[in-house]
Amino acid sequence: MLHADKYIPFQPIKLSDRQWPDRVICKPPIWCSVDLRDGNQALENPMNLPEKLEFFKTLCDIGFKEIEVGFPSASETEYEICRELIEGGHIPDDVTIQVLVQAREHLIRRTFEAIKGAKNAIVHFYNSTSTLQRKVVFKKDMKGITEIAVQGARLIRELTSRYQGDTNIRIEYSPESFSGTETDFAVEICAAVMQEIGATPENKIILNLPNTVEMSTPNTYADQVEYFIRNLPNRESAIISIHPHNDRGTGVAAAELALLAGAERVEGTLFGNGERTGNLDIVTMGLNMYAQGIDPGLDFSDIPALREMYERCTGMKVHERHPYAGDLVFTAFSGSHQDAINKGVQYMSESGGKYWEIPYLPIDPADIGRQYEPIIRINSQSGKGGAAFIMQNSFGYIIPKEMQVEFGAIVKAECDRLGRELSAQELFNLFSRNYIEIEQKYALGRYSFSEQAEEPAPEVVFKGSVICDGVEHSVDGVGNGPIDAFFKAISQVGLNGYEFVSYHQHAISSGSDSKAIAYIGLKRPDGKTVFGVGIHSNINKASILAVLGAINRSLLV
Ligand code: KIV
Ligand code: ZN
Repeated sequence: MLHADKYIPFQPIKLSDRQWPDRVICKPPIWCSVDLRDGNQALENPMNLPEKLEFFKTLCDIGFKEIEVGFPSASETEYEICRELIEGGHIPDDVTIQVLVQAREHLIRRTFEAIKGAKNAIVHFYNSTSTLQRKVVFKKDMKGITEIAVQGARLIRELTSRYQGDTNIRIEYSPESFSGTETDFAVEICAAVMQEIGATPENKIILNLPNTVEMSTPNTYADQVEYFIRNLPNRESAIISIHPHNDRGTGVAAAELALLAGAERVEGTLFGNGERTGNLDIVTMGLNMYAQGIDPGLDFSDIPALREMYERCTGMKVHERHPYAGDLVFTAFSGSHQDAINKGVQYMSESGGKYWEIPYLPIDPADIGRQYEPIIRINSQSGKGGAAFIMQNSFGYIIPKEMQVEFGAIVKAECDRLGRELSAQELFNLFSRNYIEIEQKYALGRYSFSEQAEEPAPEVVFKGSVICDGVEHSVDGVGNGPIDAFFKAISQVGLNGYEFVSYHQHAISSGSDSKAIAYIGLKRPDGKTVFGVGIHSNINKASILAVLGAINRSLLV
């Protein structure tokens, strides 16, 4: 039994003339990774120094220019990691490290010591401003909370001017739990901090508005951000940053709407690691932009490598259905999806269009280092199109439409028999067992084709033998082409009553080893159509092998 009446519904702010719903995202924000701080502090086993260094390097390689590296005043380990990054020369010149600190004097002093020698640093200080925390944690009124922030700002300003020079220091302030704070109060406390810091348009402060705990639907956060921006005095002296968490599972949505509301900078982590349900997932948000034709400014072209590093260093796992990165997100099991993807792939190759237009796949998996092969996976719910897609994309066999139904039924029966999905290789083996390595009641012996020029059209003559149950029979026939001539010849061993229904052929490998594959559909005397496949370097031989294949199969199915 649930008890919904014990929860207080969030009261949205009044913003009747909100502007954000009519806007669209058309450029990426300034990204700031908080993997090494918010992400790391939420791990069962926080990263050790080599892991943090590897993670930091990867973040730089991806293109992050602002990286929160830790909470150096919180522990000796955190302090040492910050020092190693600086003293070990791990920080590229164009990357700014960010350090988090509470608005408390001794912690602020220690933090400034931690960043000595860095080229660029952001000192990020915070105190909680939320209604609930004021009531149950700090037991202070708004004035008392503002006093904490302003005193912190005063000391930070003083230390910044002392250390500025060796290090290019910028300042960030977070009214922690912004979304649980009366928005007018958030504006007021940030304005007081800005004034104390002396922010100017040339020397902006970063005002970070954390959705520390998601309070309601993402539109309410966007309203708060828009309201904040519209009411902040001296707005041009601040960069508005957001820091969404994911308690309601809408961290990405909240971040996207907050960008529409005017935020310019986004803090988050790779794959959404972080406290409780995590921080905003920058991979998803960045690739959402990418799917809209916007370069996110972060290089996500090798998601598998990124994921491998992330999982190894953090000990976390990326869920199979995680957007863009999960094992199953570029996989279609359902027949109708497979069919549509297959058609989309064909459409793109035929039309040569420059845009990605494949149903069910928001982006090209290859763009982020994912393979095509697992896009379509074969289980008993998959349709004929899925098996055809794998055969074509993984092995180069273009199974004709007419034959796909027959092969689809074979695949379905095999999945039902095994009670599981088939790998691409298993699918190929199934095809071979059913069409190539079949029992041969009738086999081709020696043979030759010749042409006889006769009016009105030249005719083809087949001369050779068919081995029937191990006994060789000489046969010959004349027809308007090799297949027709062969058909006529095999009627001499009683193989008649078959009607030719369809014929397709193509090359299956390139270079000197090139082979042809022929697919032939024959209607047998009882009216059922059966397909046969022949493979040979000589297309005529491939075709007559396919005829015999269809006949041999027709005796089995
Ligand atoms: O979630 C949060 O509010 C934070 C702040 C310290 C920025 O991580
Ligand atoms: Zn956070």
